[in-house]
Amino acid sequence: MTIGSTPAEVIAVDVARDFWDRLPFDVRGAEYHADPYRFQERLRADGPVLRLAGEVVVVTGYRECLAVLGDERFGFGALNTGAQSFLMVDPPEHRRLRTRIAAPFTARAVARLRPAIEHRVAGLLAGVDRSGEVDVIAGLGAPLALDVICALVGVPLDERPQWIQALSMMAAGFDPEALRDAATSDRVNCARLDFARYLRGLIEQRRAAPAGDLVSALVRPGPDGSVLTTEQVTTAVGQLVVAGYEPAVDLIANGLYALLCHPGRLAWLRAGPEHTAAAVEELLRYDPPIQLLTRVALRDAVIADLPVAEGTVVGLLTGAANRDPRLHTEPHRLDLTRAPQHLSLGWGEHFCLGAKLVRVQAEAMLGALVRCHPVATGEPVRHKPTLISRGLERLPVVLTADPAEDGRWF
Ligand code: HEM
Repeated sequence: MTIGSTPAEVIAVDVARDFWDRLPFDVRGAEYHADPYRFQERLRADGPVLRLAGEVVVVTGYRECLAVLGDERFGFGALNTGAQSFLMVDPPEHRRLRTRIAAPFTARAVARLRPAIEHRVAGLLAGVDRSGEVDVIAGLGAPLALDVICALVGVPLDERPQWIQALSMMAAGFDPEALRDAATSDRVNCARLDFARYLRGLIEQRRAAPAGDLVSALVRPGPDGSVLTTEQVTTAVGQLVVAGYEPAVDLIANGLYALLCHPGRLAWLRAGPEHTAAAVEELLRYDPPIQLLTRVALRDAVIADLPVAEGTVVGLLTGAANRDPRLHTEPHRLDLTRAPQHLSLGWGEHFCLGAKLVRVQAEAMLGALVRCHPVATGEPVRHKPTLISRGLERLPVVLTADPAEDGRWF
């Protein structure tokens, strides 16, 4: 079985758990989840790169994170034993796998998808209950992200809804915090098995009758004539789906939540929809759906004068790096005009393959939601207990205007 449960990923989850346990504050309390950045500032006070107990280093500095992500002395190394996917493979093998999967993610391919994404957003909003109340996650973000990723892969329209729970469970499988609970762990494994079985069937269908989707592209011989096995295609597609689903949902919900917490900026954006793309960049910076990137020192190295021995685990706190005061003035302020640099989509060899696509999704959904005059219902907002990914359990809002007419809902 392959999706997210190779030895590499099991080790990676253990490493990540170890990392969080070494931080000098409680990462499991509600206070941390409400505002992890306040806690992470305590680390920054001791410098942008810190050695924690054991061979573990944490990086909160933007420049220092970039240095690690761009340095071939850091990679996945021993974490990638047996992993046949692009997610945790070092160069040069990584490049070969990434190239095979990259075609639907080019700027041109994504630009072609934009009208369909906007159409889907309009359809989802039109389907909101006449009372105007909707959970932005279950009702809007999740179905959009599901559709986008399934369309790329080649999952037929009528077969998509059945996977919505499974994709969330599979994403949880990458987070040590979610896996602490035995019942969740079991559900993660079931979801992986079910989805892998489904993908194997889809692969066989596309071998027999190729279509224009990613599975069809992957079952064809590559430019060097090499043919991927069913297991390799299952792993690659499965991991792509996991990588592309949950963070996209979280970006939409975290982004809207940040705007709801700053009504003045929400109103500013409503008055100036041309700023939506810039706003999405700032929302990515401000509260990123992925909080931790992990690397291992493949040989002895140095990060900002700190010697790092081979085998050291390096945790890059991207949310903290995005708020590095050496990079941004008033980094804790949501400033939709700042066009910021950030690490929320990674950097270097493993830079997010779906970056362009997810920006289009977020622009389409957040742009449309802002036009609907969303108002929080007052239900207390809870973050998921996960630590690597960051998102909300639910985000109920009332949409007080019709997006199509920009008038009252009724
Ligand atoms: C359509 C949606 C998305 C797809 C298909 C997707 C796909 C991927 C893939 C395939 C990778 C691995 C690239 C490689 O190793 O070469 C990746 C990396 C990454 N993605 Fe995405 N992604 C999506 C959305 C997102 C979102 C919304 C976020 C967060 C805001 C995100 C954050 C990241 C980060 C931080 C990495 C770097 C991981 C690392 O270096 O360890 N992705 N993404």
